[in-house]
Amino acid sequence: MIYRKMQARDIDKLCQIEEECFSMPWHRESFEEMLNNRCALFLVAEDDNSVVCAYAGLLAVLGEGEVCNIAVCSDRRSQGIGEQIVRKMIEIGRLEYGITDFTLEVRESNKPARNLYEKLGFVYEGSRPRFYKNPVEDAAIYWLRNQ
Ligand SMILES: CC(C)(COP(=O)(O)OP(=O)(O)OC[C@H]1O[C@@H](n2cnc3c(N)ncnc32)[C@H](O)[C@@H]1OP(=O)(O)O)[C@@H](O)C(=O)NCCC(=O)NCCS
Repeated sequence: MIYRKMQARDIDKLCQIEEECFSMPWHRESFEEMLNNRCALFLVAEDDNSVVCAYAGLLAVLGEGEVCNIAVCSDRRSQGIGEQIVRKMIEIGRLEYGITDFTLEVRESNKPARNLYEKLGFVYEGSRPRFYKNPVEDAAIYWLRNQ
């Protein structure tokens, strides 16, 4: 598995992963905007057969990194790919974008993702009521702060 920055040729596959994972998926235009945004860091995981099977993205604003999304293809989960891609994103975010603190929102009921973030040291700091739609649900807010 290699972890590399997103390129234009990845976008079709990323849209496919989004459709598979989320009730309100990102559209192609959103990924295209991220390609041209100097504050955006989007990584993909590509396997030995050059198949992209996961991605993770963040936006860097004034030293803080807002994690936008993380998704692993359903048939490639529980193989450590999600953990590796987030670790890589944090490492590059610190080194290349000068990010000290990272934050994210996740559906309260999304246990796999919450476990992953907590394993990586993110700390639950509160909730945003009814943040998500389709279905309506609160968001859990996490931070990974520079020690
Ligand atoms: C959340 C997600 C990215 C995890 O990716 P993954 O590659 O399957 O996760 P990994 O194999 O790297 O697991 C890392 C850790 O995550 C947690 N985890 C992953 N899958 C889990 C599951 N099914 N149940 C509980 N915890 C889980 C565990 O803490 C695990 O560590 P462990 O293996 O030592 O127990 C993946 O399930 C996914 O794409 N889900 C759909 C999209 C999504 O919800 N994204 C997050 C939006 S905020």
